[in-house]
Amino acid sequence: MANTDAGVSIRSVSKSFGAVDVLDNISLGIDSGEFVVFLGASGCGKSTLLRMIAGLETVSGGEVWIGGRRVDQLTPGQRGVSMVFQSYALYPHMTVRDNLGFGLINVGTPKAEVATRISAAAKMLEMEHLLDRKPAQLSGGQRQRVAIGRAIVREPKVFLFDEPLSNLDAGLRTRTRLELAQLHRRLGTTMIFVTHDQVEAMTLATRIVLLNKGRVEQVGTPMDIYARPRTRYVAQFVGSPSMNFLPVANIEASPMGAIVTTASGARLQTAVPSGNLPDTGLTLGLRPENLTVSPHGTMSGKVITIEQMGDRLLVHARLGDGTQVVGADTSISAARAGAEIAFDADGSKAMLFDGEGQGYHAAAEPQYTA
Ligand SMILES: Nc1ncnc2c1ncn2[C@@H]1O[C@H](COP(=O)(O)OP(=O)(O)OP(=O)(O)O)[C@@H](O)[C@H]1O
Ligand SMILES: [Mg+2]
Repeated sequence: MANTDAGVSIRSVSKSFGAVDVLDNISLGIDSGEFVVFLGASGCGKSTLLRMIAGLETVSGGEVWIGGRRVDQLTPGQRGVSMVFQSYALYPHMTVRDNLGFGLINVGTPKAEVATRISAAAKMLEMEHLLDRKPAQLSGGQRQRVAIGRAIVREPKVFLFDEPLSNLDAGLRTRTRLELAQLHRRLGTTMIFVTHDQVEAMTLATRIVLLNKGRVEQVGTPMDIYARPRTRYVAQFVGSPSMNFLPVANIEASPMGAIVTTASGARLQTAVPSGNLPDTGLTLGLRPENLTVSPHGTMSGKVITIEQMGDRLLVHARLGDGTQVVGADTSISAARAGAEIAFDADGSKAMLFDGEGQGYHAAAEPQYTA
């Protein structure tokens, strides 16, 4: 990737506001050119962590390095980062062109250079035809694009985004998301993006950092996080609808993996090695797409409600032991609220969680080397 000197290193960083500890000993290495997403529930500390990288917030402990240089004592302007916020805060009385150039002129960039950078950014974001308009003459999505353009013209080493898409309607949000992914591919610049939206995280990130109450819960590629969540917290946070959790009554060892009997009486061959599993306190984790309605299914229950999604149906049901689950069915489902139903569970995709919430997965796929 371009720009070999734009990695970010967060070293044992903590943050407290008065007596309130918000971030606890965070360490994280971000390679040059990565698109890293900080994902987590509201209040978990995503924005605070991003603002400490930007220099808008001081660190209470630890160090922040950008491009091989310690920056936590530097001003935001000295760090080589550009930040885009949820509220784009353009100057209403200035044209798009002037909004784009303002920051550059302020730091004494020569006029010709400013003009070159503005036209390059406008071309990249396909907003050359908007340059002479005022913000009030733009749609919300166009305004957000100007805000991104304003970050681009500064040619930062690192882009920082704090929920930049949240103010856009659903369609525009998806389009702008795609544009951002393309922009990242074109520029190859390191990007750090904060969101609480797991779809944004899954689609944009090269790696996701999932935060929970000021701590890093898991760092991994989107598919890693989805398929091999380290904890039950990660498992329930990522995926929509959320993963099903079924209390386990008994496990038996087998060469193929643990055979689980749920509290509702269903027996399931999993691919999770039984060797290091605890005997008690286990919970079975099954994503809705791995729990499909089938007349021959071994997991039976009573339908509570059905959600029509167009391409498929989500069937919410209560199993014999009272556990509520959601499974999938084809759009020509015969399922009816109140009726008995049976699900087929795909044990090869099942995972297990112990009493502490630690996840256990199928052995990793064998790696073949040439
Ligand atoms: N200036 C401040 N003074 C005191 N507490 C603060 C301050 N800024 C943030 N906090 C607290 O720090 C915690 C983390 O806030 P932060 O804004 O980083 O969360 P977030 O993950 O970005 O949440 P959201 O998704 O809602 O934006 C919250 O509990 C918040 O109340
Ligand atoms: Mg925030």
